[in-house]
Order: sequence, then C-alpha cells, then structure tokens
Amino acid sequence: MDLQLTGKTIIITGGSDGLGAATAKTLAAEGANVVIAARGLEKLTSVAASIGGQALAVQTDVTNPVHLENLVTQTMTRFGRIDAIVNNAGRAAAKPFESITDLEWQEDLDMKFYAAIRLSRLAVPHMRAVGGGSIVHILATGGKTPGANSMPSTVSRAAGMALMKAMSKDLGKDNIRVNGVLIGLVESDQWVRRAAQNNQSLENLYAKLPLENNIPLARVGQAAEFADFIAFLVSTRAAYISGCAINFDGGMSPAF
Ligand SMILES: NC(=O)c1ccc[n+]([C@@H]2O[C@H](COP(=O)([O-])OP(=O)(O)OC[C@H]3O[C@@H](n4cnc5c(N)ncnc54)[C@H](OP(=O)(O)O)[C@@H]3O)[C@@H](O)[C@H]2O)c1
Repeated sequence: MDLQLTGKTIIITGGSDGLGAATAKTLAAEGANVVIAARGLEKLTSVAASIGGQALAVQTDVTNPVHLENLVTQTMTRFGRIDAIVNNAGRAAAKPFESITDLEWQEDLDMKFYAAIRLSRLAVPHMRAVGGGSIVHILATGGKTPGANSMPSTVSRAAGMALMKAMSKDLGKDNIRVNGVLIGLVESDQWVRRAAQNNQSLENLYAKLPLENNIPLARVGQAAEFADFIAFLVSTRAAYISGCAINFDGGMSPAF
C-alpha cells in the first residue's frame, strides 16, 4: 500500500530518541519531510543526519511557547507546508498522590498537555492552507485506566484524550483529523535507561515486563511497529479515522 506521504511535511516532537526517532525514520523512508524536535542537540542532529536531506532538526523544549513558535517558523521556512504533527515528547511520571508537588503537576501538564495544545494551535492554520491534515497525540493506556501511584502522568494523558476528542469535533470541517495513540509498553530508549539504572540487562527487562503486566501477546511492542502504525495514521489512507483513542499495547489494557 502506498501511503502517499511523498512531499508531505510532518513534525515529530521528541524525535531524537525512542519512538519519535523511529517514527521520523519510517516517515522519511515513506517519502515525507520530517521535522524533529527535542532539547538535546547532539542526538537530534545525529538522527537528522542519519535520515539525510529530508530531515530538519530544530532544538526545542516543548514546554517553552517561544520554542514552539520557532519550530513552526523553521518548518515553514524549510519545507513551506505542514501536513501532520505527532505530539510525542514525554517521559514517565508516576508517584503516590500525596507526594506530588504543585510544580511536578505543572511540569507534567506543560510537557504532555499544554505543549500539544500550543503546537497544534500553531500548526492548524498551515494544515488548513493545504486542505487538511492529521494531528496525533501520543498518550498512554493509563489515561483510560489510571491506577494507584500513576499520577501525574495518567491524569495528563486523560486530559490529552479529552483534548483529542474535542479537537476532532472542532477541526473536522477543515479536514483535519485528530487521534490519540495510547501506548502500553514499547521498546525504546527510556527502557534502555531504566535497565541501566537498575543494573539489569535490557533482555531481562523486556522478558519480565509482559509477565508483570499480563500482556496477552506476551511481549513488549517494537518501535518499528509503532512507527508503521503512526505512518498509516497520519497518511490519507486513514482518511476516515478521527476522534479515536487507539490502544497500542498488545491487548494489555482492560479498557477499549
Ligand atoms: N515506550 C513506552 O513504553 C511508553 C509507554 C507509555 C507512554 N509512552 C510515551 O511515548 C512517548 C515516547 O516515549 P519513548 O519511550 O520514545 O521516550 P524516550 O525514549 O525517553 O524519548 C523521549 C523523547 O522526548 C524528548 N523530550 C523529553 N522532554 C522534552 C521536552 N521538554 N521538549 C522536547 N522534547 C522532549 C526527548 O529528548 P530530550 O530529552 O533531548 O528533549 C526524547 O527525544 C512519550 O510521550 C512517552 O511518555 C511511552
């Protein structure tokens, strides 16, 4: 199936590592121009260099509104259009309720919620100008099933789901589709760091996670599988899919 992504321009936040970097590589291989955004310049430029001329790296802290304006300006200057954005930048944040400070709540919401609002708001006029587009908020299954010691992340993700649904209603008339992808457990650099912190081999960690979390498919997901799914979702092959909070979790979540 030809995803018809040639010549399209897609912004991926958190594109320097893990799932964002895998997504950028897959989208570029499908012919899209990709703009990757993250704070650390070294990894960002190295991922862009591995992709080549179709990639633009823009050093960005998504919690800074001025950085997001710069991201959109640089995208338009280089590629002249925006067809899709993948709001992917994030990190794990899960603690007991009473131990979370106001600052930690604010930081989590700034990164996972306000960043998606701000970047989407900046990109929408450019998508409208090219006749439509696709916005994907990367979320987590905990947004549907928040458990003990899962905040602030699960609450930010639930807010992201409501944002996605409401945006899909507002923007459908402009042929702009908005969806959420709720991740369970997928191989990425955050698990590489976790294994190193715990003095554990990565293979061990990936073998334990499906057992501890009762994943029906009995394995964690692969970054390339995630990237393939996102490539489909941003493409016009998914032209009638909007307003969905789709689990990407090997069947792990009890909620659909
Ligand atoms: N992998 C999983 O199993 C899993 C499960 C549930 C949810 N998720 C979500 O899926 C997304 C991708 O996860 P991942 O596993 O690929 O994570 P990762 O390997 O840790 O990569 C995170 C990316 O986000 C960037 N980032 C972090 N803070 C940022 C900021 N303030 N501004 C801009 N970029 C920022 C990082 O680069 P810099 O640090 O250099 O900025 C990096 O490129 C995240 O939202 C994560 O919460 C993943």
